[in-house]
Amino acid sequence: MPDNIDNLLTETRRFAPSDEFAAGAVATDALYREASDDRLAFWAARSRELLTWQKPFTEVLDWSNPPFAKWFADGRLNVAYNCLDRHVEEGNGDRVAIHWEGEPGDSRTITYAELTADVKRAANALLSLGVKPGDRVVIYLPLVPEAVVSMLAVARIGAVHSVVFGGFSAESIRARVDDAGAKVVITADGGWRKGAVSALKPAVDEALETATHGETTVEKVIVVKRGGNDVAWDDSRDVWWDDLMEGADDEHVAEAFEAEHPLFILYTSGTTGKPKGILHTSGGYLTGAAYSHRNVFDLHPETDVYWSTADIGWITGHTYVVYGPLANGATQVIYEGTPDSPEPGRWWDVIEKYGVTLFYAAPTAIRGFMKAGRQIPAARDLSSLRLLGSVGEPINPEAWIWYRDVIGGGATPVVDTWWQTETGSIMISALPGVTTLKPGSAQVPLPGIAIDVVDDRGEPVGNGEGGLLVITEPWPSMLRGIWGDPDRYRETYWEKFADKGYYFAGDGARKDEDGDIWLLGRVDDVMNVSGHRLSTAEIESALVSHPIVAEAAVVGAADETTGQAVVAFVILRTSQADSMTPEEAVAALRNHVGHEIGAIAKPKTVLIVAELPKTRSGKIMRRLLRDVAEGREIGDTTTLADTSVMQVIHAQVG
Ligand code: PRX
Repeated sequence: MPDNIDNLLTETRRFAPSDEFAAGAVATDALYREASDDRLAFWAARSRELLTWQKPFTEVLDWSNPPFAKWFADGRLNVAYNCLDRHVEEGNGDRVAIHWEGEPGDSRTITYAELTADVKRAANALLSLGVKPGDRVVIYLPLVPEAVVSMLAVARIGAVHSVVFGGFSAESIRARVDDAGAKVVITADGGWRKGAVSALKPAVDEALETATHGETTVEKVIVVKRGGNDVAWDDSRDVWWDDLMEGADDEHVAEAFEAEHPLFILYTSGTTGKPKGILHTSGGYLTGAAYSHRNVFDLHPETDVYWSTADIGWITGHTYVVYGPLANGATQVIYEGTPDSPEPGRWWDVIEKYGVTLFYAAPTAIRGFMKAGRQIPAARDLSSLRLLGSVGEPINPEAWIWYRDVIGGGATPVVDTWWQTETGSIMISALPGVTTLKPGSAQVPLPGIAIDVVDDRGEPVGNGEGGLLVITEPWPSMLRGIWGDPDRYRETYWEKFADKGYYFAGDGARKDEDGDIWLLGRVDDVMNVSGHRLSTAEIESALVSHPIVAEAAVVGAADETTGQAVVAFVILRTSQADSMTPEEAVAALRNHVGHEIGAIAKPKTVLIVAELPKTRSGKIMRRLLRDVAEGREIGDTTTLADTSVMQVIHAQVG
């Protein structure tokens, strides 16, 4: 973790909302009162006010079969209609929906009317390929407008999208395609990243290779033109996006689906090697997305220009690039590339160019900019900004203050938002016109959300104490399950506090003297690298799939910029590894993990060892390896089967 608890305890700086901000704020403290008077009535009111229901709901929550929730179950709506057509019908067709900025400097401006027409065409195109309600479509695209159009077109016809991050490997695509039983994949002939075109279609081709993987459920691959790469082509399977769109009608009437109709699956890491397909449905998810986006970011859709830097491959890209902003009729910026391409001020140029007012980014990026120096943002005019957000990992107080001072001109509120792929939308955050901000703390549950910090038995801890973060009541945008695996859903999230009916998030947290919440990181074997969740088990299984590896253990070690970094301890099979130098073995293993999972999972450090510390029952003691990786004195080793192992490891890795 970037900060230890002692540091946090001494953090006493406070920032109350300015009178001006509070006077114009979307959210006032009336929201807290309304939610505490009658939580379910509060959610029903939010849903009716923020969404257009083709068939209004009369039931709010059905929790008769926990942990399987149904929200607004007898209502019907179309998610894409809510993000598009209704804004046009209300006279806002000419409002810019997306200012899109490509990494090489090309740009496109897309109004709500244009986006609606594009999505209708894409919906017709998918229908022409035989995609039906409930069918799964995998989306593997760079951050181009077609990615947003694809997601909304899939949603519009009641199919289910599963977006796979463009940095993931062929192996990762295959695992997700197979688990979801996808019928169609949408990809591109490349996307821009760090000044170069990265190929995407070859990974899809490799993933769908029936010679090596066996039969696939995928019937069609749609290819967007972006990178201009030559691509291998299978006439019976592949089709250009442009050809499909050209022939497609731009009239399409959106059918209403049940509130609990599946909207998307998004795979995320857990404590085992197999990614979990987190399932979200329609009415409740969209309610949570629109409500939190409007209130946490103080969105005034007529005047604000909002920008979330997240990729659509992550939940933040789903909820706060696609569904929340578009449901609210916001104008937003979408930027294809990396923060520092072609030079380190690119993000700040984008803010200046479009007059961005609301900005949402991850602490790892903020810390990266801190290192590069304040002269870079100082050379740009960032005075349009009036609110900053943070997500993905704890933001340490120094980064928070830097963010507010250097990017926010010493005046903007900074909201630290805690949530997860599973929660669908923000759960803990200040409300910028109401809450007095504390740097480093996510602070308070949103109105309508019930959160506590409890001990191992599920009893609330007192103020000033630490424990486990739980969600004590169901919420509209909660995950509805793990795709195809109801038992894993129950075990992973609900078993620990089954008698209380609490959802356990996997995070440790502390309540301060005021009862405000400070996140302390994961308590399970999930790492957080640059705000992205990676599972130790998944990387370990990638490592041991390499012929030179006998055994592997992976830990997350504190890292100044990325929060945590992946450190791998491996035991080599001497018979296989003999022909390699240690440097060659390390390089081969890093590349292998990149190939199996994706570049984000490549270990920063690979340490070759002769033994791993294990308990008598054979469980690897990662705690001790973390001590080594972080250069600390090694903790209690008395439960090790062989207590000398740590001395050996320590001597080896120095
Ligand atoms: O550990 C918490 C951390 O990120 C995890 C969720 O990861 P993911 O599902 O990939 O979603 C990331 C974007 C919402 C959480 O269990 N996390 C997320 N936001 C914060 C955070 N930790 C501390 N403070 C946050 N604001």
